[in-house]
Amino acid sequence: MNEQTLYNRYDLISNECLVGEAKVYCDKRSKIAYLAWFEIYYPFRGRGLGREKYLELEEELREKGLKYIRLDSSEQTTGFWRSLGFSDLNVNESQKSSNPMIKKLVRKPRSGSNYER
Ligand SMILES: CC(C)(COP(=O)(O)OP(=O)(O)OC[C@H]1O[C@@H](n2cnc3c(N)ncnc32)[C@H](O)[C@@H]1OP(=O)(O)O)[C@@H](O)C(=O)NCCC(=O)NCCS
Repeated sequence: MNEQTLYNRYDLISNECLVGEAKVYCDKRSKIAYLAWFEIYYPFRGRGLGREKYLELEEELREKGLKYIRLDSSEQTTGFWRSLGFSDLNVNESQKSSNPMIKKLVRKPRSGSNYER
């Protein structure tokens, strides 16, 4: 990790209860956030918390000026990430150890504006 990279660990909280955790590396120069880990603890899965907490995290990263979120998905969770707008990132098959995926963060238009910025 160099000085261009910021590391953050997030506690994912719902109704004052710790339901999961996430780890993110942000590259200040490229504006790419690397989601190194995202987990909803087992008893809390399947209730929409993964989606809800991911979208909150995404909003925070967008507000910080990040442009992309990248992650390496397991085979089992590719569908989850696709449903959240991630696409497969094409890499050389020989370098592929997992499923690299990426999402571009589009800035939300200000209310009242018809223009996307
Ligand atoms: C993947 C994970 C974060 C999903 O969290 P969750 O709280 O169970 O997910 P949600 O209940 O918010 O599901 C949101 C949507 O994704 C779908 N979904 C959830 N897990 C999925 C999976 N593994 N594959 C495909 N779709 C999935 C749900 O069916 C739901 O779809 P819907 O909106 O059409 O009903 C959770 O299972 C987990 O922490 N797994 C272990 C850690 C892990 O593998 N993390 C990913 C590292 S790459």
